[in-house]
Formats: sequence, structure tokens, C-alpha cells
Amino acid sequence: MTAPEAVAAAVDEQRLWSRHEALARFGATPRGGCNRQALSDEEFAARRQMLEWAAPLGLEAAHDPAGNLFLRLPGREPRLPPVLSGSHLDTQPTGGKYDGIFGVLAALEAAEAMRAAGFVPRRPIDTVVWTNEEGSRFAPGMTGSEAFTGMRTLEQVSAVQDAAGITVGSELARLRAAFPEVPTRPLGFPVAAFVEAHIEQGPALEAAGLPIGIVTGIQGKKTYRVRVVGEEAHAGTTPRHARRDALRTAAAIIDALYAAVVDADDTVRFTVGRLVVLPNAPSVVPGEAVLSIDLRHPEAAPLDEFGRIVTETCRRLASPCEVAVEPLIDAPPLAFPEEMRALIRNAADRLRLPYMDLPSPAGHDARNLHYVCPTGMVFVPCAKGISHNEAEAATPTDLAAGARVLAAVLAELATRD
Ligand code: GLV
Ligand code: MN
Ligand code: MN
Repeated sequence: MTAPEAVAAAVDEQRLWSRHEALARFGATPRGGCNRQALSDEEFAARRQMLEWAAPLGLEAAHDPAGNLFLRLPGREPRLPPVLSGSHLDTQPTGGKYDGIFGVLAALEAAEAMRAAGFVPRRPIDTVVWTNEEGSRFAPGMTGSEAFTGMRTLEQVSAVQDAAGITVGSELARLRAAFPEVPTRPLGFPVAAFVEAHIEQGPALEAAGLPIGIVTGIQGKKTYRVRVVGEEAHAGTTPRHARRDALRTAAAIIDALYAAVVDADDTVRFTVGRLVVLPNAPSVVPGEAVLSIDLRHPEAAPLDEFGRIVTETCRRLASPCEVAVEPLIDAPPLAFPEEMRALIRNAADRLRLPYMDLPSPAGHDARNLHYVCPTGMVFVPCAKGISHNEAEAATPTDLAAGARVLAAVLAELATRD
């Protein structure tokens, strides 16, 4: 048995499963899902649990100024750039137990399997928890991986506010205060490679009856915050011609965009997931409406064209209100390097786990790491492709298979020059 195979064999299915169940208690929802917002008390509790699991393994914990948590398995050559693996612990408001969590726990399981197999990597291997991937409480998301890779500055991400006006910066200060025993590491450092394990969040693997997906790339994504400003007025006394109704204008924009952002083969993804109306009172003509736009396409040219339609439609339908379109995310589609895909494929082959190649329609922190180091992703099936939903489900066997492939790939990467 080669070292990567021995490490994969030491992955413990029951331990990995019970850790998913344990983390799901932090922010558990009545319908069996999770609501664990970024940098909330629930997310801090999940981080604390990670530290408790990491300590007996001798993993060295550190936070960076963006709140990313690193749990380092030391390497024989500690000065070599580490291999990183992980994902996120924050969830959507009606999120599940696996989106993000699996990637973090699979990386931890790989480290624990290495310890159990007596495998000491040449390079350090960091299990990483990226801050605010989901962008639910603080939009845009991917705060941690964007700050780590220099896509946005620490100042930029720190200024982002939640609905209550609390900033990422003040929550990061609260994080440091809550974990005084965890040292702070500088933001950003050279990385040898990054591998992220994740549930597929789509139906392809389950439909094909395959446990492993080798991710070819991530589709492009643009997001916007559209602010429609009108004027509050009395619902009983103000005639139609005198109204500047922000909700009515927002509704017209949303309706026009759902009609315009379509294609014959149903490839483009367009979502208005949030609408905030002010003052949100039955007898006041709305003075302000803020809506979110999430736009995705696997190809750059159509994505740009639909983005142009978004801004043009908002401008055209603004009157009698004022409309401001603020772009939040502009991430082009990307393809992971064939070398990383081949590494994952070879590991699956050696472990006799059947697989297929597939693209990721969902976004991941791997998108940002892709621009600074060789990056790849491993998918496992989830039930009916359901995700961003409390009903999200995966099987212990599939999660363990994904963790085995991940462990073998990390062992291989951590041995290389
Ligand atoms: C990630 O959660 C995404 O929305 O793609
Ligand atoms: Mn995720
Ligand atoms: Mn998600």
C-alpha cells in the first residue's frame, strides 16, 4: 500500500459523520437544518469545537486578520509553503448541515487519518475555515478567501455591514477577543496547493450513481445591490400621479429582468433573493426598496451581456424614482488546471472509487485560491441536488469516500516539490 492509500484507509466514516451531527447543533433550526451566520455566536461555537478536535492531534491553530482559521499539521520541512484544504462553517439562513461543513471536516479527517497512519507530510497541511463564504449576513461573501488572496483589502471587507449596521471589522475584533489563546498569523502567505471538498449541490452524481465528482471549473457570477429611492407618502391622500413609489419601480424592474434574462437552453441563472422595503408599513407609499441580484453563467460573453441588460434595465425603468446599481461580485468563469484534476482522478482510481468530471454551478472559496496556487475540488453527491435548504442531505458513505480521495490527494501534494 502506498502512503496516500494508507492515509485514505485510515479515514473513519463514523467519526466524520458524527462530527457533521455535532457541528449541526450550532445554529440548528427546527426543520433539521442550520442557521449559522458568519461571525455570529453560533459560528464562534463551531470554531471552538474545531479547536477542541484539533488540539489532541497537535494541530497548530491560528487566526488571520480576516478571521480565517488555520489548523496546521506540521510538516517535516516547516518552511515550505503549506498545502491548504477546507471550506466554510457559515450557512444560509435556511441552510443545511453539509454545504461548507463537509469541506472543513473532510480536511480535518484527512489530518486525523495521517496521524493515525503515522504519515508525516513533508509540507505542512492546513485545514482552513474561510470567513463568511455565503455572503448571507454580510454581502458580498467570500470575505476570508478574498482578503487572503488579495482580491479585496482588509479595509474593504471590514467595512461591509449586516442588516443591523454591524461591520465585519467589529465582528473580527469580537472574534479575536473570544479566542485570545489562538495566535494571529499575518494575512496571506505562499500556498503550495488548495483542494476543497464539497457536496455537489446539484443532482448529477446521484443520478449517475457515482460517489466522486472531479470538478472541472466554476461558472461565472455577478451580483448587484440595487437601491430604488422614491418618497414616502400617505396611502390615502396621495394620487397616483404624485407618487414616487419605490416598491412599484422595484417590482417593474424585477418583472422586466425575469423576462429579459432568459436563454433558449436554460443555462443562465437569475435570482432576486432579497427585497427590503422601507418603511414597510401598510399605509405608507414605500420610499425605498433595496434588492439583490445574483446572476450566473458558465461562459464569460453571455454573462457580460446579461450583466449589461441588468444595468440597462434598471436605468431605463428608474423614473419616477432614482435607481443606483452597485456591483458587488464580478467573477468570471474559471477552469481548474488539468494537473490538479488528474491528481484527484488518480487518487479515485487507486481507491477504486468511480467518478465523473463535472462543472460547479455554485461558487466556492476555491475560486479565489485558483488565482494564487494550483487548485482543485472534489464533489460528493447530495440527495436530489437539494442545497441552500434545510433538507440538504448526504450519506455517511459518500462523505467518507470524498474524504478518502481528499486525504490521498493531500498526502500526495504534501510530499511533492
Ligand atoms: C455559494 O454558496 C453560492 O451561492 O454559490
Ligand atoms: Mn459552500
Ligand atoms: Mn452555500
